[in-house]
Amino acid sequence: MATDDLLIFHISDIHFGLEDTRALEWTKAEIARQKPAAVAITGDLTMRARHREFAAATRWINSLDVPVTVEVGNHDLPYFNPWERFTDPYKRFRGMQEKVERVIDLPGLAIVPLKTVRRWQPRWPWSYGWVTEPALHQCLAALDALPPGKQALVAVHHPLVEVNRMGKVLTHGGANALAELATRPVLGVLSGHVHDAFDLVEQTPNGPVRMIGAGTLSKRVRSTPPSFNELRWNGKRISVQVRNFDGVATPDMQIDDVPEDALPPRRPGEPVAPVGAVPRTDPPVH
Ligand SMILES: [Fe+2]
Ligand SMILES: [Fe+2]
Repeated sequence: MATDDLLIFHISDIHFGLEDTRALEWTKAEIARQKPAAVAITGDLTMRARHREFAAATRWINSLDVPVTVEVGNHDLPYFNPWERFTDPYKRFRGMQEKVERVIDLPGLAIVPLKTVRRWQPRWPWSYGWVTEPALHQCLAALDALPPGKQALVAVHHPLVEVNRMGKVLTHGGANALAELATRPVLGVLSGHVHDAFDLVEQTPNGPVRMIGAGTLSKRVRSTPPSFNELRWNGKRISVQVRNFDGVATPDMQIDDVPEDALPPRRPGEPVAPVGAVPRTDPPVH
């Protein structure tokens, strides 16, 4: 790596409660060894937003000795406590409050959050992504406030894909959000949620936007072993390496379309990474 390259780790979907301890310890050691300028965690810190899961997530995240920004995933809103879900949905993040949906300002590059989770939505399931007008407005305002010449990475939980190649309706408002981002100096959109990595370009009426998805560091694997993304910015372009414990090459770790969710592909036509590490039975959800 050239010494003036900026190194950013993009990690996602740790799902404490079903975390992969070995992958997580290795990731933490890599963060300590390489000291990235920032770590972007794109949501689903926990399995069911239980207090003990949040306690473990808070301990792990606060132990990282680098700047961290945290997106909220659909698994992180109170699941067993509807009252808290509606009245104080971020209460369980209090131990890492200053890191949640935080803008990280680096030399020449900023990481800007865009919220895609909702307490409720007029469709089922509520686990799907939804970009509300206020959330988009807040993200665009943060982008517009950047000094001239500053580039940005936008961090979300759900990929901003409104309809995937199989015709499945995914993130509501995703297409509009991407079209807006295409008019700003956005180098890419960092997402999680689907548990497989990707590096795709989505066309919008205002031009192309790069979408970079990270895999999971949990036992809920879809078609690839646990991984995180190592991003390098040389001032002109971002390169992505999908780091994994098994040493699988990056192109073999990436899917070529955005799936509906993190469940292993079972139907023909669903995107599968070339490494094809699809679990024989569906991973546990509890
Ligand atoms: Fe997830
Ligand atoms: Fe998710």
